[in-house]
Amino acid sequence: MSLQGPTTAKWFERARGALVNGVSSGFRYWGDNDTLVIERGYAGHVVDMDGKDYIDYQLGFGPVILGHGDEYVADAVGRAASSGTVFAMTQRVEIEAAEKVLDVLGWPTAMRFTNTGTEATMHAIRLARGWTARDLVLKFEGAYHGAHDYMLYSTASAPAGHLGSRLRPLPIQASSGIPDALRAYVRTLPYNDIELLSEFFDDHGHDLAAVIVEPMAGNFLGVLPAPGFLEEMRRLCDEHEVVLIFDEVKTGFRLGLQGAVGAFGVVPDIATYAKAMGNGFPVAAIALAEKMVEGWSLGGIAQAGTYSGNAVAAAAVKATIERLEDGSAFRRIEQTGTAIMKGLEERLAAHGVDAAVVGHPSMFSIFMGEGTPIEFRDLAHHDARIYNNMVYAMIEHGVAPCPDAREPWFTCAAHTDEDVALTLEVFESALESTIARAGDLPSVEDD
Ligand SMILES: Cc1ncc(COP(=O)(O)O)c(C=O)c1O
Repeated sequence: MSLQGPTTAKWFERARGALVNGVSSGFRYWGDNDTLVIERGYAGHVVDMDGKDYIDYQLGFGPVILGHGDEYVADAVGRAASSGTVFAMTQRVEIEAAEKVLDVLGWPTAMRFTNTGTEATMHAIRLARGWTARDLVLKFEGAYHGAHDYMLYSTASAPAGHLGSRLRPLPIQASSGIPDALRAYVRTLPYNDIELLSEFFDDHGHDLAAVIVEPMAGNFLGVLPAPGFLEEMRRLCDEHEVVLIFDEVKTGFRLGLQGAVGAFGVVPDIATYAKAMGNGFPVAAIALAEKMVEGWSLGGIAQAGTYSGNAVAAAAVKATIERLEDGSAFRRIEQTGTAIMKGLEERLAAHGVDAAVVGHPSMFSIFMGEGTPIEFRDLAHHDARIYNNMVYAMIEHGVAPCPDAREPWFTCAAHTDEDVALTLEVFESALESTIARAGDLPSVEDD
């Protein structure tokens, strides 16, 4: 079996000749026969090299909030590009975009642009360490904060059933090439466990520079924060003078204009944004509450980037926010996502499958198991064999979420009612055929 049609297969062969494993980012490799090559995107769809059309629920791992190739954003970017992009000086559109970001977010005093989520969290962590003069950072199991060495521990690629004791979790390194010594500066905890968090602060609060958290677990299923979890985190950080970093790379400009801060009502000291902020253009930002601004303004804590605030990225941000500001895109996403989540739930229940549809209408996933997951360790009870094979069948029929439940389905303002109807139809038949073949399904390898 292969997801590649003949022309896509030829192009993937070319890709393998030029790019290692045929991809520019490790997460895109689905195997030699199944990695797709895309010719173009439009609205909520992508088209592969054979001209096969897919309803796209990956949306580039989340950035595409308005739809692929949104004309308003593309025009703004085109205009910016033809006037020069990088000047080694602050430029007009960069200021306009930053003002827009601060204006819609409401809580930050100032910000800086950068290019990727990885850079944004790296700088946020350095700022927190420099500002507190402490080294230790706490992250949560299953969360991903980018590809830098600092936080590549117990990400969603870790074995969910082998993370050590809940009381003393093992930070599992997600890659070779990270110096062993760095492990000493990272602690991990299960997400959503308020009691463990509070005990952790009793023991280590005085040594802790920062807590970095995806306020909603966008890298495992889209699990939502338990009532009180973020509030208690905020309280403990204040009590112990620890910097609270919200990594809103996935939630920012996706859960709403104010991202997770707006959705959950807790305000961090630093937040990182990327993805939906630029509708697919490479841009990120680090937003700071007033007390953090001195960390950079006084100098001594390095932050830099040749392309940070470049005109193309800034124009994309300004135009994306202008398109999001009246709320209609978010209303559309809410409607679409809710219809899909409900439709999935109904079909799973009708077929007697133990499963939970978890998350928010703009990013959600299906947990194939009993109960509702609240932390990454629950994935040890998720039936990836059923899920992955079912999604594989969906992709064959032109509906394309990520074939791994840890990565949520993303919805955008350009998904239509027809997309929703076709998605649910394809889902149902993929579910039925997968259940019917359950005994002979190929097993699933963890990455
Ligand atoms: C929550 C979170 N933070 C940071 C990153 C890293 O962003 P980038 O891939 O732009 O470096 C990601 C990427 O998926 C992410 O999901």
